[in-house]
Amino acid sequence: MGAHISTDVADGRAFQQLVNGKHADALSGERIDVLCPSDGKAFASIPASGEADVGLAVGAARHAFEAGPWPAMPAFERGRLLTRLSRLVEENATELAALESRDTGKPLRQGRADVTAAIRYYEFYGGAGDKIHGQTIPFLEGYTALTLREPHGVVAGIIPWNYPLQILARVAGAALAMGNTLVVKPAEDASLTTIRIAELALEAGIPAGVFNVVTGYGATAGAALSGHPGVDYVTFTGSPATGTAIQQAAARNNRGVTMELGGKSPQIVFADADLDRALPVLVNAVIQNGGQTCSAGSRVLIERPVYDRVANALAERFSKLVAGPHEADLDLGALISAKQRHRVAAMVADAEAAGIPVLSRGSVSNDAPSGGYYFAPVLFGDVPPDAPIAQEEIFGPVLSLFPFEGEEEAVRLANSTDYGLVAGIWTLDGARQHRVAKRVRAGQVFVNAYGAGGGVELPFGGFRRSGHGREKGFEALYDMSATKTIVFNHG
Ligand code: NAI
Ligand code: MG
Repeated sequence: MGAHISTDVADGRAFQQLVNGKHADALSGERIDVLCPSDGKAFASIPASGEADVGLAVGAARHAFEAGPWPAMPAFERGRLLTRLSRLVEENATELAALESRDTGKPLRQGRADVTAAIRYYEFYGGAGDKIHGQTIPFLEGYTALTLREPHGVVAGIIPWNYPLQILARVAGAALAMGNTLVVKPAEDASLTTIRIAELALEAGIPAGVFNVVTGYGATAGAALSGHPGVDYVTFTGSPATGTAIQQAAARNNRGVTMELGGKSPQIVFADADLDRALPVLVNAVIQNGGQTCSAGSRVLIERPVYDRVANALAERFSKLVAGPHEADLDLGALISAKQRHRVAAMVADAEAAGIPVLSRGSVSNDAPSGGYYFAPVLFGDVPPDAPIAQEEIFGPVLSLFPFEGEEEAVRLANSTDYGLVAGIWTLDGARQHRVAKRVRAGQVFVNAYGAGGGVELPFGGFRRSGHGREKGFEALYDMSATKTIVFNHG
């Protein structure tokens, strides 16, 4: 590839974390190379922090919570600072999108879409924090009882690599709006925009120590943060296995957690569906971000009379999908890492070896650098409902099709995994829309639409292995605070 000025952003930069409003290296001096998935080459570095660094950051957040102005500040003033942050994100949109794309390999337009969503999160929570009210409760004669919503204190946010800008924004927006202070540990594979947002938060006037960032590996920095006794609440998005480890660490201190652990989300296509509307959405729901999306629509259930028609149309669309470098802005970019590419390739190879038919494959663009982590999209048909690719999150551009007969079987198949994050229902029958939407186990259900990415105001979260707690919208403000009941005896 030639020179790409706009995406040479951050070349050679030694990024620092942000603790107590100051840039810092890891105490050990150790660093992690930042790789661009499009060519597999290192272009910058971040600190590799450990337990002692985490201790300093938690101490700073604790001090900012106990002694600083933040939790005592009127909610509308905190809101104004978050609104200012949203404006600064907007002013720096070009740089942030380029940085996110280079760090994660995602096409530039997806980087831009992520910035747009981040702006909306800070704007939404900037306006929402002063609209959460307590209650007065009728109680015994001679008493008045009321409730307050209080911040937890120090919130630890452990962020994954797939949508760092967006996931950080939904965590930080809600946590800060309610008066908590924060220590964020971004993923070692994609930390750069988190560092930049913390810098912009300082520039916006959010006081030092309120928004701290510690970079490093999950097993060291992440584990130290989730088990730190100075942390009051932990919020995590990522894999179920890491979610278990984080909950166990938090349980040692009996701290509350919010867990968003991905899904195996179904889209149900009934024979009466408007297929012209459905088809592009079915493809995008699993191709966006290379399939590395917690809410990816990775299973499509198709009513028998239209199964062949839908399968053929999807196969044709899949054959035209092309993966390539982020700056080429094709259908999808590289996957995040060699490890993730290997994981996806192994699951696909196992499914092929088990005899599950491949209906179609996309391709990797000819000029994609050979060191990049590209994986061509794959469409599987007639997938057995108990196959690993039907049950496990793949987190790659892989779609599985399943035929069904009638509403009962559709609901049974939709609910046949241990996950329950998002579902899509495609039918023009209004009564069926309501029936199926109620019976599908998922935190979000879309009817004749699909997509959790937008909609910062829509509560989001899972059932069962997809996790617990709710993020986004007003609901997140309840997760990020606790009810205090006060009773007055004036009888
Ligand atoms: P992961 O869940 O291990 O990583 C996510 C975050 O957790 C990173 O910041 C990481 O540093 C941190 N972490 C890792 N181990 C930790 C520990 N012991 N204590 C505290 N923090 C820790 O995900 P990974 O290994 O990168 O990806 C594997 C699979 O996880 C993917 O194939 C995908 O299925 C799933 N995943 C789901 C995501 C979602 O949005 N639901 C996001 C990322 C991964
Ligand atoms: Mg990277």
